[in-house]
Amino acid sequence: MAAETTNRADGLMRDYLAALFDQKQVSLVERQVDPHFELAALVAKSQKHSDRPILFSNVKNTSFPVVSNIYGSESRLRTLIGAERDGFCQHWSNIVKAAAQLDDDYTNLIDGPYDLESGKLSELPHITWHEKDAGPYITAGIVLAKDPDTGIPNLSFSRGMMVNNREIHCCIDSVQDLGNYRARAESNGQPLEVAWLIGASPLIFLAACTSVPIEQDEMKLVAQTTGKKVNVRPCKYLDLLVPAETEIVIETRILPNQRRTEAPFGEFNGYYCPQNQGFAAEILDISWRKNAYFHGLLCGSREDMTPMHAMFAMRAYRNLINDIPGIIDVACNTTLYCTVVKIDKQFEGHAQQVMLNVFATNPHYNLACMVVDKDVDIYDLNDVWWAYLARGPIDKRTLLVNNVPSGYDYRGEHFHSGRIGIDATAPYGRLEEFERTTVPGEDDIDLDDYLTQY
Ligand SMILES: Cc1cc2nc3c(=O)[nH]c(=O)nc-3n(C[C@H](O)[C@H](O)[C@H](O)COP(=O)(O)O)c2cc1C
Repeated sequence: MAAETTNRADGLMRDYLAALFDQKQVSLVERQVDPHFELAALVAKSQKHSDRPILFSNVKNTSFPVVSNIYGSESRLRTLIGAERDGFCQHWSNIVKAAAQLDDDYTNLIDGPYDLESGKLSELPHITWHEKDAGPYITAGIVLAKDPDTGIPNLSFSRGMMVNNREIHCCIDSVQDLGNYRARAESNGQPLEVAWLIGASPLIFLAACTSVPIEQDEMKLVAQTTGKKVNVRPCKYLDLLVPAETEIVIETRILPNQRRTEAPFGEFNGYYCPQNQGFAAEILDISWRKNAYFHGLLCGSREDMTPMHAMFAMRAYRNLINDIPGIIDVACNTTLYCTVVKIDKQFEGHAQQVMLNVFATNPHYNLACMVVDKDVDIYDLNDVWWAYLARGPIDKRTLLVNNVPSGYDYRGEHFHSGRIGIDATAPYGRLEEFERTTVPGEDDIDLDDYLTQY
């Protein structure tokens, strides 16, 4: 079952969804839903009860089915790349490393015929997510662009305010590779060609969440994971090859020296990003596969945070294993700001060394770091806090770094949030004194073999 799902990870998103549907892993909403808040409210509510994707087959004012919460599950992300539990960071960082060595002949140009249809932005679902959002937004739009100098493709994300059939107003942070491309294109007075991929294959989605050095091509992560070439097709107007298995492609160019009003928008951090001067993506063409599915995600929800947690964790893991021994695994939860590291403690002060490394890795986001021993579940914050509170003095196992600035607060201004490190490990060499209780056989029990009703 897992292998089947993995095999579909580089195909059409709808095929991946169909595989989950067959496994009874998808919630289906067949009655008509209003894209103005009602759809988002259902996404939010359903995520409080389950991590299943939710599929809306009848959304008002559009013929497109809408799916949400495809990526809101750690175990689905692991299955997509074929990793074991506790093994996401190691597995994905090995793929990232190996992909850097792939030669450039990793794509397979599909030269039609395509089952493509084309139309206008007004035909796509216009979903308004949070109460004070400035309007309907594309929230799961993967943006594909090429480095204006080297031509290396990059995958990332931008929220897109759906303004009219001519323009999308977007938010491109200057720390993103895309922000770097845009600024360089603009300094030459040039537009930046950008294809928005809505409903790309799951592995393209994961590659877009991943940050690699700017000279590396993120599309190669897909080829490296599957061992197969990535099917691509040409655009109608852009000099870009887009993944052929994408449900919807919006061809745009970001206009140089043009700014447009964008936001307020309910962001990942649980606050509204205020109105600001965003960028203008001029729409040149919109095409979709026949019977395409639209993918939308609720910012700040499980589907937004789970892949970002995994990718932030992998980034910290990659740096840690280069510099420090005894690193077992890393998780970022419950927010991007807290990195939890599992170590096989090798010396007194090991945890503090880990904390300093983590703070340096991602200075915009790594504000808190908790370090635990090898017997603690880093995916369960209760377990992590238990280790801190139950394994030593709580007043002597913190590291405070005052007045260090972080990224941006919800008003978009720099602020000095400082850093906190929490050493939740037992004293070096004494872990056996902290032996945990276990129930023999628990791990091997399959509840289905015992329960008749549940
Ligand atoms: C669902 C989602 C939405 C995002 N939206 C934005 C956005 O609107 N603007 C932005 O600058 N970054 C956004 N990001 C963050 C970056 O796109 C993301 O970190 C990406 O991996 C950066 O890629 P890069 O390292 O190749 O630049 C978003 C990330 C996700 C997962």
